[in-house]
Amino acid sequence: MKKKLVLATHNRDKIKEIKNKLGNDIIILTIDDFDNIPEVIEDGETLEQNAIKKAKIVYEHTKLPTVADDTGLFVDALNGKPGIYSSRFAGECATYDENVKKLLDELKNVSWEQRDAKFITVIAYYVNKSKWTVKGKVEGKITQKKRGKNGFGYDPVFYYEELGKTFSEMSLDKKNKISHRANALKKFIEQYKKIN
Ligand code: IMP
Repeated sequence: MKKKLVLATHNRDKIKEIKNKLGNDIIILTIDDFDNIPEVIEDGETLEQNAIKKAKIVYEHTKLPTVADDTGLFVDALNGKPGIYSSRFAGECATYDENVKKLLDELKNVSWEQRDAKFITVIAYYVNKSKWTVKGKVEGKITQKKRGKNGFGYDPVFYYEELGKTFSEMSLDKKNKISHRANALKKFIEQYKKIN
């Protein structure tokens, strides 16, 4: 019988990416396949705590092995901000644009040399009483203004030096090969295959 894995997300892109990488041996479900899964409040102090909390709550409802992720952008000149608050940097219901604007404002007087940043993704796996996490990251710099049309979130201002482009200036395929999430996913799949 095929194994099942629940992804604690509604995000179609994340679902597609993990399905592509895991192949057809596993049945991938998402929270959209279940009723009454509560919205998880991300009130942890670290990405790990948030990812584990999400995975645990979904596991408790589905009783199936569950995977959840949490991502943050950590900017050196801002002592790691916005970090775990990346989705609500400019306020509880902030849009991507508002968050980016706040970030650029806070970095207004910061030189190019001091604009180092990294995206970090933590993926958590939860089943029964067993849980583990893996972490993926990508390093870059925050540009002075938005560049490019693709992607989402902070992609228009996240400059990847090796390719001389922001994440928004590259194709989704390219981003998905080098991103924080791709690196975390690679580690997750290695670990998952070891134990399954
Ligand atoms: P989440 O944990 O995946 O929901 O990510 C939290 C926040 O980080 C999002 O609301 C985005 O603002 C930002 N973020 C996460 N992943 C990316 C990415 O790949 N590119 C740009 N921003 C991202």
